[in-house]
Amino acid sequence: MSELGRVKLLLSAAERISKEQDTDRLLVMLSDLAREVLEVDRCSLFLLDRERNELWTKVAHGVDEIRVPADRGIVGWVAQKGESLVVNDAYSDPRFNPEVDKETGYRTRNILAIPLFDKKGGILGVFQAVNKLKGSFTHEDVELFTLLGGYASSAIETSILQAKLKEAYREAVMRLSYAAEYKDPETYNHIVRVGLFARLMAQELGLDEEVCENITIAAPMHDIGKIGIPDAILLKKGRLNDWEWEVMKRHTIIGYEILKDSSSELLQMASLIALDHHEKWDGTGYPYGKKGKEISLWGRITSIADVFDALMSKRPYKEPWSLERTLEHMKGLREKSFDPELVDIFMDNIDRVMEIREKYRDE
Ligand code: C2E
Ligand code: SIN
Ligand code: SIN
Ligand code: SIN
Ligand code: FE
Ligand code: FE
Repeated sequence: MSELGRVKLLLSAAERISKEQDTDRLLVMLSDLAREVLEVDRCSLFLLDRERNELWTKVAHGVDEIRVPADRGIVGWVAQKGESLVVNDAYSDPRFNPEVDKETGYRTRNILAIPLFDKKGGILGVFQAVNKLKGSFTHEDVELFTLLGGYASSAIETSILQAKLKEAYREAVMRLSYAAEYKDPETYNHIVRVGLFARLMAQELGLDEEVCENITIAAPMHDIGKIGIPDAILLKKGRLNDWEWEVMKRHTIIGYEILKDSSSELLQMASLIALDHHEKWDGTGYPYGKKGKEISLWGRITSIADVFDALMSKRPYKEPWSLERTLEHMKGLREKSFDPELVDIFMDNIDRVMEIREKYRDE
């Protein structure tokens, strides 16, 4: 390909690449582009799995995922040394590992491989181009490939950081929800279970994966307003008197007030859950006596998850109920407390519900 041909190709790809938000798709685009401009048969992008000390193909033309030991073969050498490498006759190079060819039935002739670094200079993986269609790899090929590899590295690093941030955020929110209930003997696993039951219903409704992820974290915050309820009421062994009950019911509005001013979709959802999780389908719930679909879907979902788990668990004011008694009771609340469509979904999936209870049981 002429220099001009390459420049044209790069320019036409630049806009698409700079607009791509999805890391996986971006890495495929970069690999496809590298294949075209370098005029090679295939490209693979290996990522380093530090736990297993392996390199695995995040993107690979023509083959399924490959995993190789992080210190073997050409890609292993590049990962260890942190240097790029051109091998013009693979089978005469002692560093070449012919195992992969044997498995895939492919014949490797020549290889260009470059290391991918994070901003601190740590190894993220290796970018590899195999079998130049005409001639051998040139100095310009190495430069171009390194340029594309640089884009790939930043994208990979950003996506790793985002995943870590998301995980830290998820955990902080769960810990905070738990802290709010800490003085209440409800366990950490109670809030985890309520989140997973809510997720199950959201998934069965066919809602977007992001929404399902959000409700898994938002539903556990339903009782965050109990932080504002005096211990004498919250921890009372017996039934509440009328005045105490009026105070207790305020945990819905308190939770809503704590969460409502955030612009985050997750916390907006959580604020509606705090507000609506004791509303009932027939309009006899609290705090506002909302009816049917006036109650947010998130609130309708969470009330089923919460009541089920509360009935099945020990509370200062009650012993745990059997599954049979719980289901019988919940059936009776269909169209009274609960959205009939949602409670049917919940009951139809009771096996999965019980698996979650088993996996996250109270100690
Ligand atoms: P919670 O313990 O998390 O219970 C959540 C919901 O599960 C309750 O909402 C109720 O709908 C259902 N539930 C739990 N235990 C039972 C039960 O033994 N029988 C029946 N029929 N339903 C049950 P609810 O009633 O709006 O109560 C909200 C919160 O108020 C409860 O959260 C708990 O913290 C407190 N609470 C309710 N009743 C009492 C009580 O008699 N004594 C004390 N100390 N607290 C209570
Ligand atoms: C009350 O005991 O008066 C209110 C608590 C409940 O509804 O279970
Ligand atoms: C209760 O403990 O709140 C009443 C039990 C029942 O609803 O059957
Ligand atoms: C519910 O609040 O939905 C069920 C508990 C009750 O019997 O009031
Ligand atoms: Fe509540
Ligand atoms: Fe609860």
